[in-house]
Amino acid sequence: MLPTIEWRGDRVVMIDQRKLPGEELYVECRDSESVAEAIETMIIRGAPAIGVAAAYGVALGFLAVKDGGRAAADFAVISDRLRRTRPTARNLFWALERMKAVFEAHRSLPLADQQARLVREALEIEREDVEINERIGRHGAALIADGVSVLTHCNAGGLATAAYGTAIGVIRAAFEQGKKIRVFADETRPVLQGARLTAWELEKLGIPYAVITDNMAGWLMRQGEISLAVVGADRIAANGDTANKIGTYPVAVLARENGLPFYVAAPLSTFDFTLADGDGIPIEERPAAEVREIAGRLIVPAGAKVRNPAFDVTPARYISAIITEKGVARPPYGKSLAALK
Ligand code: MRU
Repeated sequence: MLPTIEWRGDRVVMIDQRKLPGEELYVECRDSESVAEAIETMIIRGAPAIGVAAAYGVALGFLAVKDGGRAAADFAVISDRLRRTRPTARNLFWALERMKAVFEAHRSLPLADQQARLVREALEIEREDVEINERIGRHGAALIADGVSVLTHCNAGGLATAAYGTAIGVIRAAFEQGKKIRVFADETRPVLQGARLTAWELEKLGIPYAVITDNMAGWLMRQGEISLAVVGADRIAANGDTANKIGTYPVAVLARENGLPFYVAAPLSTFDFTLADGDGIPIEERPAAEVREIAGRLIVPAGAKVRNPAFDVTPARYISAIITEKGVARPPYGKSLAALK
């Protein structure tokens, strides 16, 4: 299991994902503000991991509440701050809603008991995430034949979750079953989650892989070197339209063009059934420096304008199946996802 985040009673510790693979540094957050900043700056990232971090952020913030009479007002301030960190990952809002429900249900208890309940819930969210990922892995492994090569985009592994991973969880479950698998990891500009994080994880897991730049997938598919693609998700609408890391949509279109399966692996906490389709998914625009620079070095003319949408939406029609902890949904997703809910 990879160490993404750990509760230590009065603080949370997370591996600093900005520094990987060069350095394995751990960051301590002792209050909810530092958790919010860790999410914003991508010390921790990946939709399920963001959800776990937010739950711990609420727990830490609420541990600092001194006056039971102000508990509701303080809870709202803590939660609102965390809510404003990253707009696309549904798991963030899901975790905050779950913590709020626990707070509401125990408001009549003494402050210390309310605090203990919130800590317990955050720990439970982390524990469940591992279990859910292992289930996703088991369901997904059935779709991975022996001897295939799998393309993945961004990082949907242990680092993006509490531990096991969603898309990488599917790959590693198949690998653990003894299937021979080769992975192609898209580097995933601009933040390089594929080159830095997915490759780091696969290296540790001993799964054979090659990193490719984002513009190589089409050619390798056409050459018969890629058998299928599996990716994670940040938010999935009721019709199956899926927001994931920018560059996922072209991978799905290329997979269709080449007659290859394109799978999405995600927990139900990533689904947003309030959205009929992907048009309503908020897409985060991240700082221009991520595009203008590589490793702190300017790669464009000083005055160049850039765009940096961090996610795209893959229309459901390009998705062969959505792998969840409750099973594999197939098109038409309106029906199959509603049944899983
Ligand atoms: O910007 P990031 O690194 O948080 O984006 C992460 C992704 O897009 C992942 O693919 C997604 O969150 C699924 S993680 C299991």
